[in-house]
Amino acid sequence: MDPNASGLAARLAEAGQSHLLQFWDELSPEEQGDFARELQKMDFLEINGFFEKATGASSSSKQEKMDARMQPVPRDVLGSVTRDRESLKDWEDAGLRCISQSKVAVLLLAGGQGTRLGVSYPKGMYDVGLPSHKTLFQIQAERILKLQQLAEQKHKIKCCVPWYIMTSGRTMASTKDYFSRHNNFGLDQNNIIFFQQGMLPAMDYQGKVILESKGKLAMAPDGNGGLYRALGNQGIMDDMQRRGIEFIHVYCVDNILVKVADPSFIGFCVKKGADCGAKVVEKTNPTEAVGVVCKVDGLYQVVEYSEITLATAEKRGADGRLTFSSGNVANHFFSFSFLRDVVQKFEPELQHHVAQKKIPYVDTKGQLIKPDKPNGIKMEKFVFDIFQFAKTFVVFEVLREDEFNPLKNADSQDAKDTPTTARHALMSLHHRWVLNAGGHFIDENGRHVPAIPRDGAADDVTRNLKDGTDLPIKCEISPLVSYGGEGLEELVRGREFHPTLMIDESGVHELVKNGV
Ligand code: UTP
Repeated sequence: MDPNASGLAARLAEAGQSHLLQFWDELSPEEQGDFARELQKMDFLEINGFFEKATGASSSSKQEKMDARMQPVPRDVLGSVTRDRESLKDWEDAGLRCISQSKVAVLLLAGGQGTRLGVSYPKGMYDVGLPSHKTLFQIQAERILKLQQLAEQKHKIKCCVPWYIMTSGRTMASTKDYFSRHNNFGLDQNNIIFFQQGMLPAMDYQGKVILESKGKLAMAPDGNGGLYRALGNQGIMDDMQRRGIEFIHVYCVDNILVKVADPSFIGFCVKKGADCGAKVVEKTNPTEAVGVVCKVDGLYQVVEYSEITLATAEKRGADGRLTFSSGNVANHFFSFSFLRDVVQKFEPELQHHVAQKKIPYVDTKGQLIKPDKPNGIKMEKFVFDIFQFAKTFVVFEVLREDEFNPLKNADSQDAKDTPTTARHALMSLHHRWVLNAGGHFIDENGRHVPAIPRDGAADDVTRNLKDGTDLPIKCEISPLVSYGGEGLEELVRGREFHPTLMIDESGVHELVKNGV
């Protein structure tokens, strides 16, 4: 395998990527074969083009221009769980009806590398240390199971919610293996469909592809917006069509509170005739680094905090809320026909974004270096980049403490979005469910724990960790018992519990006596 004879060396030279062959002579014949095959598959001119387009750095004048073009989400396309309470039941009923008719699918984005969390396995397999030790995948699977049951009970027909799981080359095998070892957590194997997103090479700031080892490129998944290309080239849209799917709920693996296929959200979107919808939480702190859903030049998009000036981020309306308050939580609704149009027509128009990362590389001497600050970029498309193509776009605002708590970082003193904050958020939510259903908690001295629990907000949890006091009540309710707080009265009303309280299919358990 001679790279000159095969034309590979010339192709790389043409694309300015000849450095990739610098260790060629040190590779074994087998390694050379593997590496040549990897390189032959890549279209380096196309990749250079992605790099050129993606690396247009944002300047302050661009920021000012962006500010002037932005408009907040108008009230008539906004639904809110707090401000539209009178409509919630209708929306939930409508969503549950669609689910009962097997028209709803869920699509999980689980192709990320979870570098910040720092585990070697897929993030969905992470155990945040709940009393049950359920992983994120298990919690989500059980929510789907429960939702199917609720829809079946209400409408007296058998239904299913297919679960499409996007993985990457790095996570596919372990994810599939994990599901099969756990018997798909009780779901029908035919209704769990794995598919794989694409990968792109990481580049240094000069646009040179980075070598991970002497004969291997540093490849990374092409972002959660890689979804659209993958849906097309893996036959997923055809599968959805065969099953008669009309509505799709897309969400991220790392949100421990995610209401998978949330009937209220789906019902709201369906009743509004939307082709695309975004769930948001209220952004209350102007400097919080969360993207906001808004209109730019009349089209919906997510604008990152770094793209706008502080003055715009701080703007408030007459009601005191931030003008740009719709915090994006990567939780979306698509009609099937909209998604099909995106996949078939619009995907190539989407541009890559730049993410600066610490990318291990081999230096010119062939030494493996693990940088401690970002040394290059990964190019990613984002799942929300397609809002601009929607004809009827709606926004559904939910409570952060009920629905959004992502797992991003490993535990450490001041870190946000950690296993500890995720665990606390879930237990705090379940605590509130018990209180709302008429149950009470008593502490080790037999005293009633105050009925207004903490809300699990990240700042509070961080403080709690520091002073070691006032941790949330340990309480966990299996999704197989309750999807969203329903059905708990008969189990808890008028009763007093010592934490740790566990409610699962086998009953109500106080684990403290067993020292758990
Ligand atoms: P993040 O952007 O937070 O990335 O993903 P991550 O992989 O979880 O973590 P870091 O940045 O490496 O630490 C948000 C969601 O998008 C998915 C992730 O799996 C997560 O559900 N994602 C991200 C993909 O599906 N594909 C990607 O290429 C990137």
